[in-house]
Amino acid sequence: MLIPRSINPDNIPSHVAIIMDGNGRWAQAKGENRLFGHSNGVESVRETIKCARELEVSYLTLYAFSTENWSRPKEEIDGLMQLLVASIHSELALLMENNVRLATIGNLSLLPEDCRISLDEAVQKTAKNKDITLILALNYSSRDELMRAFNRMATDVLNGKLIPGKIGQKDLEKELDTASFPDPELLIRTSGEHRVSNFLLWQLAYAEMHFTNVYWPEFRRQHFMDAIIDFQSRERRFGKISEQVR
Ligand code: FPP
Repeated sequence: MLIPRSINPDNIPSHVAIIMDGNGRWAQAKGENRLFGHSNGVESVRETIKCARELEVSYLTLYAFSTENWSRPKEEIDGLMQLLVASIHSELALLMENNVRLATIGNLSLLPEDCRISLDEAVQKTAKNKDITLILALNYSSRDELMRAFNRMATDVLNGKLIPGKIGQKDLEKELDTASFPDPELLIRTSGEHRVSNFLLWQLAYAEMHFTNVYWPEFRRQHFMDAIIDFQSRERRFGKISEQVR
């Protein structure tokens, strides 16, 4: 499909991160249970990957399950995990066809075994794909990621690999789950909430934020393009003044 003329192909964010929110409210408004919302969210994921790939976005990170989500009812957690396994199986061929590499961030060791196995297989099978990297944040929260990194760094201090007072930003970035990815340039959150909710707190330092009222199961091509147009309307100064970046 053609890139809309309102989009400048020379100013596409290389990494887009999305907080997919509003599945539950969307389903409840229809008199359905929350899992119905999550299942319908898979179509939005599919369409978003397609659009991102078309625009040549290199990295797309989706917040699929937070460390805080374990406090939801067991039925919803089990349903979400089953949906994840089923989606990986049903979408793998499409990921291969579209040259999508799958990656994850978060502490996967706490996910159910079948989930870890399916993810592992898909990550390995897609490892050589080059068009776009789809990063699923699973059992992820930024504070958890940072604490895991700090603990490893403390060990490095003890064995002399890091020297207190000489630790730099790069030393921390190497220990983050996102070590091999650039920082997101655009964050999208659906459902009218205006929060970052413990997502990529370090990495979003200079990201532009786009909030839309649309619930995730209704997020489509037009909404993704609107977010990119909004991104392109911003002047990114990185602490400088306007004249310096023009
Ligand atoms: C937030 O909506 C959504 C989630 C916690 C889960 C997102 C999962 C999917 C879209 C499905 C599977 C994903 C993949 C990658 C295959 P919410 O439940 O917090 O909604 P609410 O705020 O309205 O309650």
